[in-house]
Amino acid sequence: MKHLLSIGDLTRADVERLLETARSLDGPEPLPVLRGKLVLNVFYESSTRTSSSFELAAKRLSASTLTIKSSGSSADKGESLKDTVLTLAAYEPDVIVIRHPQIGAPAFVARHTAAHVVNAGDGKHQHPTQALLDLYAMRKALGGLEGLHVAIVGDVLHSRVARSLVQALGLVSAHTTLIAPPALLPRGIEALGCETTTELDAIGAADVVYVLRMQRERMLAGASYVPSLREYTARWGITPERLRPGQKVMHPGPLNRGVEIDARVADGPDSLVLEQVRAGLVVRMAVLHDLVAAGAAAARLGAVA
Ligand code: CP
Repeated sequence: MKHLLSIGDLTRADVERLLETARSLDGPEPLPVLRGKLVLNVFYESSTRTSSSFELAAKRLSASTLTIKSSGSSADKGESLKDTVLTLAAYEPDVIVIRHPQIGAPAFVARHTAAHVVNAGDGKHQHPTQALLDLYAMRKALGGLEGLHVAIVGDVLHSRVARSLVQALGLVSAHTTLIAPPALLPRGIEALGCETTTELDAIGAADVVYVLRMQRERMLAGASYVPSLREYTARWGITPERLRPGQKVMHPGPLNRGVEIDARVADGPDSLVLEQVRAGLVVRMAVLHDLVAAGAAAARLGAVA
């Protein structure tokens, strides 16, 4: 793997290898596998989980890391993405992890640097490491992925998480139903390999209910997607009364407690929310390892052959 830009670029074998590598790296001890390597985290959008876990993942693998947030950087003075990338490429990083509001920004960076590039979220397009960590957390909690039924509920329209996760679940032969109010369910999204409905009752058939955040920052000013947040919560909010005992609940975070998810669900015994955070660290270690260390080993083998 040269870059990780989209789940659409991966095969089932890639996903299984990454999940297996993550499992093998799970543990508190630092590992020397990326010693001497440089991982740059470049975030043009806010992040807690993704930015911290990539930084920690690089450190656990003994790489040097540098995190740059667009706020406070020369992006504030009008520097273009291309100039920022060319500037950072002068440090000869091995990996650039980038989050950007523009769809395709990570692919653009990949064309302007020799580094491996990881998409940490581009607009409403893709968030591939989120999908991989979600698979890891599901597999750990439920024992397997094949044949699993996942209901993804909420603001699908603005969700890169939903798009990546539908594709990832399809790769491992799991089944997805997207559930959203009509205005938050993009036309044609079934082409990714899922069913859609506006009826929340459809969660009853799911093994996992995956709740999406209402992404108010991506909604057009003045546009009306739901009658009101209060009505959204009343019709589509996930409460204990709407779940079966044992039905697992996931959310990529950050949570809007009391909007799309009731606090009793978020903190309840079937919530995998913090398992997802823990999975983020090992899965991102696996991605960095796969890009840098595994790629270098393959190159060495190629040179010998
Ligand atoms: N799930 C996720 O991407 O969270 P952050 O925005 O905190 O990184």
